[in-house]
Amino acid sequence: MIHHDKLLIIDFGSQVTQLIARRLRELSVYCEIHPYHKVDAGFLANFAPRAVILSGGPASVFAAGAPLPPPTLFDMNIPVLGICYGQQAMMHTLGGRVERGHGTAEFGRAYVTKASDGVAGGDLALLQGWFAPDAREQVWMSHGDHVSQIAPGFKVYGTSPNAPFAITADPARHFYAVQFHPEVHHTPKGAKLFENFVRLAGFKGDWTMGAYRAEAVAKIRAQVGDAKVICGLSGGVDSSVAAVLIHEAIGDQLTCVFVDHGLLRLGEAEQVVTMFRDTYNMPLIHADESDMFLSALAGVSDPEVKRKTIGRLFIDVFQKHATAVGGAKFLAQGTLYPDVIESVSFSGGPSVTIKSHHNVGGLPEKMGLKLVEPLRELFKDEVRALGRELGLPPAFIGRHPFPGPGLAIRCPGEITAEKLDILRRADAVYIDQIRKHGLYDEIWQAFAAILPMKTVGVMGDGRTYDYALALRAVTSVDGMTADTYPFTHAFLGETMTRIINEVGGVNRVFYDITSKPPGTIELE
Ligand code: XMP
Repeated sequence: MIHHDKLLIIDFGSQVTQLIARRLRELSVYCEIHPYHKVDAGFLANFAPRAVILSGGPASVFAAGAPLPPPTLFDMNIPVLGICYGQQAMMHTLGGRVERGHGTAEFGRAYVTKASDGVAGGDLALLQGWFAPDAREQVWMSHGDHVSQIAPGFKVYGTSPNAPFAITADPARHFYAVQFHPEVHHTPKGAKLFENFVRLAGFKGDWTMGAYRAEAVAKIRAQVGDAKVICGLSGGVDSSVAAVLIHEAIGDQLTCVFVDHGLLRLGEAEQVVTMFRDTYNMPLIHADESDMFLSALAGVSDPEVKRKTIGRLFIDVFQKHATAVGGAKFLAQGTLYPDVIESVSFSGGPSVTIKSHHNVGGLPEKMGLKLVEPLRELFKDEVRALGRELGLPPAFIGRHPFPGPGLAIRCPGEITAEKLDILRRADAVYIDQIRKHGLYDEIWQAFAAILPMKTVGVMGDGRTYDYALALRAVTSVDGMTADTYPFTHAFLGETMTRIINEVGGVNRVFYDITSKPPGTIELE
């Protein structure tokens, strides 16, 4: 098995810790994020990182029980980079001093200049090629406390108006500390700092998708042996990539189950079945259970009841078909890294449920199955890269996300066969328009929703009384927040005309201009 050098990110609860991992992955460096309370001396010895980064975080080193890295970290003879709170925790542990900000808090854009005490910032390996020629560089600050005295052995390499110790280092021991956040977009040359850091730490940059593929295949074979595996295929990118990868590893020991709940888009079931059964030649059960789902949903208009009903039936159907496979010991899932990072919660409590998300939760325990999750270490764009590496068609890899409960949550109010039919055809026209105008890849997700109301219209010389549609299109990085896509009026007008002319049963079209927050992306 290929062995990668590993970088450990100790998470102190910053909102942007995941971005540190993103920046490192972009440099082909393998890294893992672990919460500070799990990282003790034993963990460190076992993980054996080649370098460590201490993230930012909301705590104050003055607080009782303040989160700190294990002191043994600094005896391991490996490079350490402290960011924001990580810098303060580092100074505090190594004998420097941190103070409460009195007028020294800094939030937002700031400029760091080379230290003027004769130390040339450019001589520090971390800063090679970093400062602009005028010895100034834009950074993003977000701190209340600040370091007032650096630890023995450290020197100053950069200062900002409110952070005299914006960049400090003890080059002999390879300890580096920055008060700002190099991982965020608003520190334009932040990536350069990470590049310098991993280079000075000796990383080879061998975390490529080709290597990942070979390694994942070997791991799946070792985990599964000659047992059977079942995989729920939704037609989405994650479960598809997982299925193709597992199929490469174990061939026909894998059976995919595609549950058609009658809430898919136009032609979607056929596309998925054709691709997996015909192109990939994978054993695939196409479970057409639309009648069962739609009759269970008849008369249901509460969004949570819809979601729970679909989730429950999905598990039942999946279980029924999985049993037919006979003796499967493993369930494959397309779980991604952002789903598994154990984030540091300072409030302690679980976050509020906005919506019950649809997944196969509870299924493995109920069926006594073990999980195979070959994408657990990947971010979404890495899954797409792996999909390309595995030869999945580009159009498939670039598909917008589609939710597990499908069209049910794009049909507020009661779900009827008539409404689903209108919605399917209108959505197809809308997506066709977006593709024709070359906008598909600029948009995170676009879809039509059918509203629970009819309105009056006039077509030809006649009165109409038909459904109204809402069109939605958003840009987003991760689906957590989103902005409305700024279509031109000409595009919207043309789309409205096409939908009303081509679909029938619709006489009014709205464009949803709600961002997230306050709206969610889906209507329910
Ligand atoms: P919301 O509507 O919560 O959606 O802003 C954020 C993203 O998640 C998708 N979504 C789901 N995906 N099962 C899924 O697999 C679900 O139950 C589900 N609900 C929402 C949504 O399409 C968007 O991309």
